[in-house]
Amino acid sequence: MTVSTTTMTAWMQHRYGPASGIRRHERTTPEPRRGEVLLRIEATALNAGDVRIMLGDPLVVRPAFGLRGPRQPVRGMDVAGTVVALGDGVTDATVGDAVVAELPGGGGLAPFATAPVARCVPRPEAVPPQIAATLPIAGGTAWQALDLAGVTEGNRVLILGASGGVGTFAVQLAAIRGAEVHATSGEQHHPLLSGLGAARVLDRNTPVDELPHGEYDAVIQIAGGQSLRALQRLTRPGGTVVLVGGDGGRVLGPIPRMLRAALLSIGSRHRIRPLAAVAKPDILANLLDLVAQGRLHPVIADEYAFEAAGEAMARIETGHAAGKLVVHAEDSPTAS
Ligand SMILES: NC(=O)c1ccc[n+]([C@@H]2O[C@H](COP(=O)([O-])OP(=O)(O)OC[C@H]3O[C@@H](n4cnc5c(N)ncnc54)[C@H](OP(=O)(O)O)[C@@H]3O)[C@@H](O)[C@H]2O)c1
Repeated sequence: MTVSTTTMTAWMQHRYGPASGIRRHERTTPEPRRGEVLLRIEATALNAGDVRIMLGDPLVVRPAFGLRGPRQPVRGMDVAGTVVALGDGVTDATVGDAVVAELPGGGGLAPFATAPVARCVPRPEAVPPQIAATLPIAGGTAWQALDLAGVTEGNRVLILGASGGVGTFAVQLAAIRGAEVHATSGEQHHPLLSGLGAARVLDRNTPVDELPHGEYDAVIQIAGGQSLRALQRLTRPGGTVVLVGGDGGRVLGPIPRMLRAALLSIGSRHRIRPLAAVAKPDILANLLDLVAQGRLHPVIADEYAFEAAGEAMARIETGHAAGKLVVHAEDSPTAS
């Protein structure tokens, strides 16, 4: 390692629980293992997924993440940073590279974090770190949802619960594909969604039975607990409902709903497909290109200095951010 720092101050949790339990602690600066790089973090964007891991919710995820508390105690999965050290066997990165990455399980609310080199994508100079960091999970999930529904030019697409991180990307990416986009959200977010390319915005409280029936090639459900049969009725024959988010039980989370979706789709011309998005560096590279070309505009609800990362976690925990929340690194010149 070429980094002189051996300890660092990171935002950490020792037990599952709310954001109020996340504090700054000294810890050893991680060392990159085989196939990994060490990143000096410039910006970290938060996701609903960070909240799920923070809370250990649903309980079914705990065997994978840690029984009493998360094995990775630092939240923050989406980062932009600079490569400062290479682990063994890393040949396709160089110290000094500016990259964007989705860190498995977290580590981003710290000055340094390790990342598998296979997940690191070069950051174009035209895309600042705080913009680039918004892309991996939220942009990647929106992209994969549209792929799963097969959204293409001329389709009509309904995005349910469109004002958050995933939703604001889904609206823009569907419009970029040439689809006619309809979106639901709270009334205060309607101008935002129209500005992002939604042809029609509807109130989030509109009962699903009062939404246009049989008109959509794709329905992307990001928020709300609409019944699966009602969602199916919104699609044209051959159309697809993609389940991205929404409520689930404390123990099994979305699993029972996913099983019901599979059953309702058997022999039906109105498919329901649950999405389990994964890190896809090729999609991240496409998203960075779109931003560099000025065709995709990540929506940032708020930016926080590193010292205020605990407030940022509390805000993402409320589930009411319109767009993305970004935390700047400690010494970031652009920190607000
Ligand atoms: N399936 C997957 O692979 C995958 C991947 C990533 C994320 N997700 C899930 O996708 C969902 C969105 O993630 P995110 O990171 O975009 O979250 P987020 O940024 O925290 O979303 C917050 C936004 O959601 C809106 N919202 C909350 N409840 C709503 C409701 N009932 N109806 C309409 N809008 C509502 C809020 O609007 P208001 O302020 O008006 O309430 C706010 O603008 C989460 O459930 C997350 O777990 C799934």
